[in-house]
Amino acid sequence: MKHINIAIDGPGGAGKSTISKEVARKLGIIYVDTGALYRTIGYYARENGLSVEDVKVTEKISPLLPSITIEIKYIDGAQHVILNGEDLGDKIRQPDISMYASAVSSVPAVRAFLLETQKELARKNSVIMDGRDIGTVILPDADVKIFLTASSEARATRRYNELVAKGVEVKYEDVLSEMNARDHADSTRAAAPLKAADDAIYFDNSEYDFQGSVDHILNIIEERTGVK
Ligand code: DC
Repeated sequence: MKHINIAIDGPGGAGKSTISKEVARKLGIIYVDTGALYRTIGYYARENGLSVEDVKVTEKISPLLPSITIEIKYIDGAQHVILNGEDLGDKIRQPDISMYASAVSSVPAVRAFLLETQKELARKNSVIMDGRDIGTVILPDADVKIFLTASSEARATRRYNELVAKGVEVKYEDVLSEMNARDHADSTRAAAPLKAADDAIYFDNSEYDFQGSVDHILNIIEERTGVK
């Protein structure tokens, strides 16, 4: 199969990761979850006693970066992030790590630190990579760019159901307000704000279910690249 790079950007809760994972499985390519990298830096900062406010400050977060080694491994098709030799598993999925991840991602030094890891994965493999700046910064020459979004209510409902299914106790209102706060922070920050690339295909999947979203994206990829 020819080498292809697919970029999927959009706000949290649009289903980027579950949909991308399934598209990757169907095409036999690798799914790269870049949010996990920011979550890993956030996790490390929290472990080192920094607050969410601290990690937005370059002078506080930058000194930690040289002691961080991140590797990405694929075990049975699932992405594992290894931080200084430790597989973090689901530790980076805790809700407070979402806020840490959003905060560290506003720091240009952090984005620069993670840039090459992401580019290299896409150079070496056919990938579908999801994040906030994949089509704009990381893979400007991607074969297909999709900006995947949905209404904030649709996204909060999905995230809420996901957390409940995992046994996490949360209130819908809290999920919605955290989602709105994160959307706001991610789209108004100075460094690589969340925005669609000029040549991205805009896809609002509020009215689509999971399989419908997967099929729609597979169709776009086939149309653009001939790969199916
Ligand atoms: O996709 P996610 O929820 O795991 O991402 C966590 C945070 O990381 C999100 O609030 C924004 C940031 N992020 C980013 O700035 N750039 C990316 N490519 C991916 C995530």
